[in-house]
Amino acid sequence: MKDANFLKEHNARHLWHPMAHPADSLANPPEIIVGGQGVRITDVDGHEVVDAVGGLWNVNLGYSCAPVKQAIANQLDKLPYYSTFRGTTNDAVIVLSEMLRDFFAPDGLSRAFFTSGGSDSVEIALRLARQYHKVRGEPGRIKYLSLKKGYHGTHTLGASVNGNANFRTQYEPLLPGCYHVAAPYTYRNPYNETDPARLAQLVLGDIEDEIKFQDPSTIAAFIMEPILGAGGVIPPHESFMPGVRALCSKYGILLIADEVITAFGRSGSWTGSRHWGVQPDLMCTAKAITNGYFPFGAVMVSDAVAAVFEEDTTGKAAIGSGYTYSGHPVGAAAAIAAVQETLRLNVKDNAAERGAQLFAGLQDLSDRYELIGDVRGGHGLMCALEVVADRATKTPIDKGTASKIQKAAYEAGAMVRVSGPNIILSPPLVLEAADVDTILSALDTGFSAVS
Ligand SMILES: Cc1ncc(COP(=O)(O)O)c(C=O)c1O
Repeated sequence: MKDANFLKEHNARHLWHPMAHPADSLANPPEIIVGGQGVRITDVDGHEVVDAVGGLWNVNLGYSCAPVKQAIANQLDKLPYYSTFRGTTNDAVIVLSEMLRDFFAPDGLSRAFFTSGGSDSVEIALRLARQYHKVRGEPGRIKYLSLKKGYHGTHTLGASVNGNANFRTQYEPLLPGCYHVAAPYTYRNPYNETDPARLAQLVLGDIEDEIKFQDPSTIAAFIMEPILGAGGVIPPHESFMPGVRALCSKYGILLIADEVITAFGRSGSWTGSRHWGVQPDLMCTAKAITNGYFPFGAVMVSDAVAAVFEEDTTGKAAIGSGYTYSGHPVGAAAAIAAVQETLRLNVKDNAAERGAQLFAGLQDLSDRYELIGDVRGGHGLMCALEVVADRATKTPIDKGTASKIQKAAYEAGAMVRVSGPNIILSPPLVLEAADVDTILSALDTGFSAVS
């Protein structure tokens, strides 16, 4: 590897960063991370911090997960690649599909379609939803409904159901037939409603209104995150997702749970759908499925949806979707080891306990810093602080102040993520109590730097 001077000199010079302005990356070069151990990362200057971002919501088991590393190395030696397109398969992917069938049995999901990541999983789920209705003989069901503030990756179908202008405006025109309703976001919503239960009912009322307005026989699927993640960690009231499930069932619409973040324990339950007592028709997974060590994902399919495809005799159910890396044996081997470790360590319980500690500590910080307008969390290790210039008007914080908080927190020992006005926390699920304290005291330093 080149030395630190070379890396700093060339930082962001000849690569464009996702979700960043190229000029900003040049003016404010990104931290160069060169090492990771446990729940900590080390930068090019040797500065070590707790990674409160968990890679990008994916390194649930931390950076030292030997079984996943070993599984990848072993699989590379044995069979580094073979396709799963019609006519061939590989042993690792068969074993993984059986393991996932068991893992997702309580969610009513039994078939897996493998992908290369979260955006791919969303794309496949949306495509399969339309195909399901065509195979069943309702080809007019082609529209999608989703939530504002939702994040579903950046492929064009996913961006079309995304609920944040940042991922849409510069890429328009997006796909026609995608309609959005307000998120159950108590801090800001068009109804001026702060009570979560009442807000859930208002949004559900709007969803039903939109379904009727569009005509239910034109709608293929409703896609939602059980807890909105990248949009700023917005947990809905417990009645919300069951309410969406009931509406989908009433009107023959498929419910797609986008669990790219929430599957595998992050919410304190094994899946976000299970957290709310809901069984979706399709589920998108990725990220933690390999602990972030290999780009991989799976769309899980319910028995009822699977039956429509598997019992088709017309040929319409032939799946005309897939990727060269669907079912990649190295990814599958990584996923087998990651799911085994996830279960062995029972990380969902630690996510719930450490998540409660983190959420309480954040509430404590908000008692001390006026800049903190809203604290969200309370469901495992996914929390956010919404930072405002003024609590009364809820004016969002400017970018410079948010960066200063982030920078000072980093110097004080924790990597946190700033996204718009939100500081988002999604640390590894193997975090210990002392690590939570480190994150909280780093944030304390961050806020005191600008207060
Ligand atoms: C809920 C959700 N869906 C989809 C995606 C897209 O996943 P990827 O970045 O792996 O394409 C993400 C990424 O953060 C996500 O949070």
